[in-house]
Amino acid sequence: MSEIAALLDETRTFAPGEAFVREAQVTTRAAWEAAAADPEAWWAEQARSRVEWHTPWTQVLDWQPPRVRWFLGGTLNVAENCLDRHVRTWRRNKAAFVWEGENGDRRTLTYWDLYVEVCKFANVLKQLGVRRGDRVGIYLPLVPEAAVAMLACARIGAIHSVVFGGFSPESLRDRLDDAQAKVLVTADGGYRRGQVVPLKRNADRALEAAPSVQHCVVVRRLPAGAADESFAEMRDGRDHWYHRLMQHADPHCDAAVMDAEDELFILYTSGTTGKPKGIVHSTGGYLVGATTTMQLVFDLRDDDVFWCTADVGWITGHSYLVYGPLANGATCVMYEGAPDWPERDRFWQLCERHGVTIFYTAPTAIRAFMKWGDHHVGKHDLSRLRLLGSVGEPINPEAWMWYRRVVGGDRCPIVDTWWQTETGAIVISPVPGVTHTKPGSATHPLPGYAVQLVDAQANALAKGGGLLTITRPWPSMLRTIWGDHARYEQTYFSKWPGRPDLYFAGDGAKLDDDGYWWILGRVDDVLNVAGHRIGTMEVESALVEHPAVAEAAVVGKHHELKGQAIAAFVTLREGVPASGELRDELREFVAAKIGAIARPDDVLFSADLPKTRSGKIMRRLLRDIADGRALGDTTTLADPSVVASLKEQYESQES
Ligand code: PRX
Repeated sequence: MSEIAALLDETRTFAPGEAFVREAQVTTRAAWEAAAADPEAWWAEQARSRVEWHTPWTQVLDWQPPRVRWFLGGTLNVAENCLDRHVRTWRRNKAAFVWEGENGDRRTLTYWDLYVEVCKFANVLKQLGVRRGDRVGIYLPLVPEAAVAMLACARIGAIHSVVFGGFSPESLRDRLDDAQAKVLVTADGGYRRGQVVPLKRNADRALEAAPSVQHCVVVRRLPAGAADESFAEMRDGRDHWYHRLMQHADPHCDAAVMDAEDELFILYTSGTTGKPKGIVHSTGGYLVGATTTMQLVFDLRDDDVFWCTADVGWITGHSYLVYGPLANGATCVMYEGAPDWPERDRFWQLCERHGVTIFYTAPTAIRAFMKWGDHHVGKHDLSRLRLLGSVGEPINPEAWMWYRRVVGGDRCPIVDTWWQTETGAIVISPVPGVTHTKPGSATHPLPGYAVQLVDAQANALAKGGGLLTITRPWPSMLRTIWGDHARYEQTYFSKWPGRPDLYFAGDGAKLDDDGYWWILGRVDDVLNVAGHRIGTMEVESALVEHPAVAEAAVVGKHHELKGQAIAAFVTLREGVPASGELRDELREFVAAKIGAIARPDDVLFSADLPKTRSGKIMRRLLRDIADGRALGDTTTLADPSVVASLKEQYESQES
């Protein structure tokens, strides 16, 4: 809490630098004014001017809360918007992706190269029987083929579901199965900190129990020879090498004419139950949101080199590594590996080598860079950088100041962007040529968004602390949860009976006296570990599958670098002794079940889990224990009387 208090005492402000403003595209408040006067007309203007349509829409918005449709009757193709319209111009030979593998491999794909690859792979997918509306799973390292596969799906009207390469076989299987994917695109492996991530082996295990998948396309990422036997056993009839299929594929592929409301992709994210939610995004509205915010927030110009460090497995990788930048004809850096491999200056080496002008990363990375020391940054010429971005979790003022001073040389504005998988695009952020920033604040909503702070009863608040809601629909908002529309209504629009129009984001926030937004983090049972969303229930369900575990409760604890880390309280079955080995085994068990990002930092054995009379786990007590506030010596948790007395203390405080 003291940190939050410190955050809100922040009084430093930074006006956009003169040099930046001189060249910036947006320097006035005209867009906010126009959008406030008529939000629908403003979004319609963005859609008209930034996106190419086959047929124009006949109605901008249909809002039957919480059901929403944008640009009704409009038709378009997202891949055409990202590729065809650029290859018709001088951008044909402009770099779309400048890629580096962790092992030093390098490739540059121009818009023309990417266009040809996408058309060919679209034909490959068609040959494998993929039709409009079918689902395609993508489980790849961060290689250009990930973008190729996404765009190829978009080209033929198939719905992609990208699964982060760090997820386990079981997580992959659940997602493939939920979406009933017909094809999976994977690779023999990827590189992470010098190790091979055995994606194909993981995929094989997932496919054992994902019967909807008829074909598996395998990109060769590892050196030929090393790959074939050990990392990629190819099953006849089901598995196909990407390069073989591409060899004779036709480079012409007409783009499917899609309805604005057709689904573009599903992206799974963690919620408050054990089962991840398949967030569904639309074709027209999503593209309008991604392309508009890309331009506004990043002040994108044709000579920029934009690097978003996110993986395509997350929404940031969808909107700001693929769709937003490509729709705007940008050059993007794409990097496969870890920031500290082989050395801790890898990111700065990449920035220097490729002349990166806009750099967009997560606070967890910034905090790590800060800890590693300024000298790693100092080794490289970063003078081309002109704008810095942050996303995924609250950034503490100290990290913000370091980012500005050491990486940005005190000259680059910082855009701290708040948004979610569900919002599809950035919602709250500075516009760098206009907004005066405060370290740690995402500042104000962008034009076209109606963000409202409310209290527990949904009363609007002008300042102070409360819950973050969005009161008007926006084009790139999620349309549903795949296969579970009731869960969509229930999760986002049912917090306040009688207010099905109010989108509840799940975040707590504070508005200061100057009207600046400070995001305080999740108020539900979702953790944010190093910028990744993990549901406490997901980890709990994994733990109770272990034969030694009777019951488990998971909470977030403060972590200097990751923001939050996972602490698991576990009661063991009768007769199972607690031990250090079992603790390690349980940590690995969760990592194997979900993925390394969900590995608990702490596993605490407890005689009992403290519960309220109604049977709810007392999470505040557990959080206080995990953070060392409630109990010095956690080994005493094994004593039931200790838990009981803590419980009593907490109950008396709460009543
Ligand atoms: O809690 C907020 C946090 O990340 C959550 C969304 O996670 P996800 O859907 O995985 O998308 C992450 C990338 C957009 C939000 O509910 N969050 C995201 N951006 C910020 C943030 N918290 C504070 N400041 C941000 N800039």
